[in-house]
Amino acid sequence: MKVTVLGAAGGIGQALALLLKTQLPANSELSLYDIAPVTPGVAVDLSHIPTAVEVKGFSGEDAKPALQGADIVLISAGVARKPGMDRSDLFNINAGIVRNLIEQVAQVCPKACIGIITNPVNTTVAIAAEVLKKAGVYDKNKLFGITTLDIIRSNTFVAALKGKSPTEVEVPVIGGHSGVTILPLLSQIPGVSFTDSEIESLTKRIQNAGTEVVEAKAGGGSATLSMGQAAARFALSLIKAMKGESNVVECAYVEGDGQYARFFAQPLILGKNGIESKKDIGTLSAFEKKALESMLDVLHQDIELGEKFIQG
Ligand SMILES: NC(=O)c1ccc[n+]([C@@H]2O[C@H](COP(=O)([O-])OP(=O)(O)OC[C@H]3O[C@@H](n4cnc5c(N)ncnc54)[C@H](O)[C@@H]3O)[C@@H](O)[C@H]2O)c1
Repeated sequence: MKVTVLGAAGGIGQALALLLKTQLPANSELSLYDIAPVTPGVAVDLSHIPTAVEVKGFSGEDAKPALQGADIVLISAGVARKPGMDRSDLFNINAGIVRNLIEQVAQVCPKACIGIITNPVNTTVAIAAEVLKKAGVYDKNKLFGITTLDIIRSNTFVAALKGKSPTEVEVPVIGGHSGVTILPLLSQIPGVSFTDSEIESLTKRIQNAGTEVVEAKAGGGSATLSMGQAAARFALSLIKAMKGESNVVECAYVEGDGQYARFFAQPLILGKNGIESKKDIGTLSAFEKKALESMLDVLHQDIELGEKFIQG
């Protein structure tokens, strides 16, 4: 299994690379790429950790050497939020970066599974899909917007509120990955119930959790360590499924049947070739139904922005 991280010298990239170096299955390869010249040094640094995972680092304008033979490509290249910005403010810079990197993925490792971390995820995933389509190599079962941070945050906040162990709680989160498009399905947590006001405040906290970090870091960036953990969890689940383990479930933002929007985050059963099947989102509470309906305009606009960026 070869995993390539694009944006590997950044806050998320380095945390993710460390977790992958220590947790990838034995004899995997970890390939790190970033435009920053420090990247080969990040790889040397990690290579001193005694695990059976070979690490190589690449920098410069050309990502292709890092992509040769990749089974999974994780993309966190781009700029992150500063206080006062929302994820859509990142669009102008990050859209071009994702387009450029995906063009190289399409050339070098078109069969790889791709996980997009770069924000705004609602839009960058649409950009990636259109670039892959243009190149004639798009497989919708292999392109994921990584929304796992929304799930792990939900698990943490619910566990704290209800006095549970955070590892016992698993909250499905559907929709997209910004503001009102993030919809935690709090009605679907076995053995946990909430008052109406708890549901309202918890949902808001989960939707704004990224801003909580941006403000706490006071200009020093957005979530990096928790996002590194989230992306590592997603990648390790995908690897388990690709190696044949059955019933591996993760939520992610993917192209589905279009019932709500062309791209939609929902629970997926992962398999040898990416998405094996999509799980039904189940029965929603009245609060969740209303929240789902009212997010759709935003989600459609976010997706259209990405489609138009490539289609012109
Ligand atoms: N999906 C999520 O849940 C989630 C959560 C937090 C942050 N993010 C997003 O992840 C991205 C990265 O965040 P970060 O905190 O690691 O930022 P960062 O600034 O610390 O790191 C970004 C890295 O990307 C590199 N880079 C820029 N242009 C590049 C290019 N063309 N090719 C290769 N590398 C390039 C930079 O050199 C830098 O090392 C941001 O867009 C951020 O908004 C997503």
